[in-house]
Amino acid sequence: MARIDLFEMERMQSLYWHRVEVDLSESGVVPMTIRELLEPEADAEAFLATALGYPLSEGAEETRAAVASFYPGASAEHVTLCNGGSEANLLVLWTLLEPGDRLAFMVPNYLQGWGLGRHFGEATDTFGLRREGDRWALDLEALERAVTPRTKAVMVCNPNNPTGAVLTEAEMEAVIEVADRVGAWIVADEIYRGAELAGEAVTPTFFGRAERVVVTSGLSKAFGMPGLRSGWVVAPPELIREVWVRHDYTTLTPSAISDRLTGLALRPEVRERILARTRGIVRANLPVVLDWVGEHRDVLSLIPPVAGAICYLSYELELEARALAERLRTERSVLVVPAEMFGVAERAFRIGFGDRPERLRDGLERIGKLLAELS
Ligand SMILES: Cc1ncc(COP(=O)(O)O)c(C=O)c1O
Repeated sequence: MARIDLFEMERMQSLYWHRVEVDLSESGVVPMTIRELLEPEADAEAFLATALGYPLSEGAEETRAAVASFYPGASAEHVTLCNGGSEANLLVLWTLLEPGDRLAFMVPNYLQGWGLGRHFGEATDTFGLRREGDRWALDLEALERAVTPRTKAVMVCNPNNPTGAVLTEAEMEAVIEVADRVGAWIVADEIYRGAELAGEAVTPTFFGRAERVVVTSGLSKAFGMPGLRSGWVVAPPELIREVWVRHDYTTLTPSAISDRLTGLALRPEVRERILARTRGIVRANLPVVLDWVGEHRDVLSLIPPVAGAICYLSYELELEARALAERLRTERSVLVVPAEMFGVAERAFRIGFGDRPERLRDGLERIGKLLAELS
């Protein structure tokens, strides 16, 4: 049997998220309804008129143009639609990695890329984000060590899951320079882009900054529509064609509903409305988390996230993160994700804070009680 690691976080979530009273393992915001999305009457009509035939494999031209408008310099030919950001990552890494190739991979991170690097290539080499004062910084020395002439791709998650960190311009340039030195591709998973916690600016994209850049993303996080299973790849047209070759072996096309709704959602004026909704949620909820962390500062510490509805809490207790998460689930019926499931063995865990404030408070209170008991 071909080697593939169990994707631990996804397995843990699918086993337990619906069996706990409070799920703080979710990394998105309260999902949008189709009604909310289709507020203008004309959009509702357009949606109802969608024929449920096979869509184009890469998605409708109109949809791809709308997606491209989120990436300066991109046009429809740079975009292909997929079923979720996860299919986008799968197809891209399948396309880029051959046996013997190595993937350099940022941690902590959503470990799909880590597992796929080991599956399609020879190995995955990690480089870290590290705590530097009040921000997460790119560990440049670790990046330089991880990228060798056998590295075929460097994968980053920006904004990062689980920390909510965003790379500076200088750090983005450093990633590009180190990758360019060995002719490696950059794969940037930007699925949290647009959910910034302060200011008006959207996180800069990697797209267009160098020749060999692929961006993966979708509607599941910053756009609040994970159930639509809409994702995309943005890349040079030659690479898009290679991705298509693989797409013909996986799901053939996006669903017709996802194609239509993605096209409606990504038009600039609608996109702004959706992202404003997301920012409203995360900006209202973050202070709840920060106050709570303040109440437990003897045990907990947090570098506040810059984007996304997620944060990564460090704690000082004997108990390891996996064991702490297990006790939170079994004794307090609250689900969090331990650090090990992001590729780092340390005393830390991720919570999502994009849910309704009363549920968030309930979950935090449950965690606080166990922490108090253990300290
Ligand atoms: C960084 C990152 N990429 C991709 C995904 C998967 O996205 P989707 O649900 O659109 O397949 C996730 C889900 O948690 C994620 O955190």
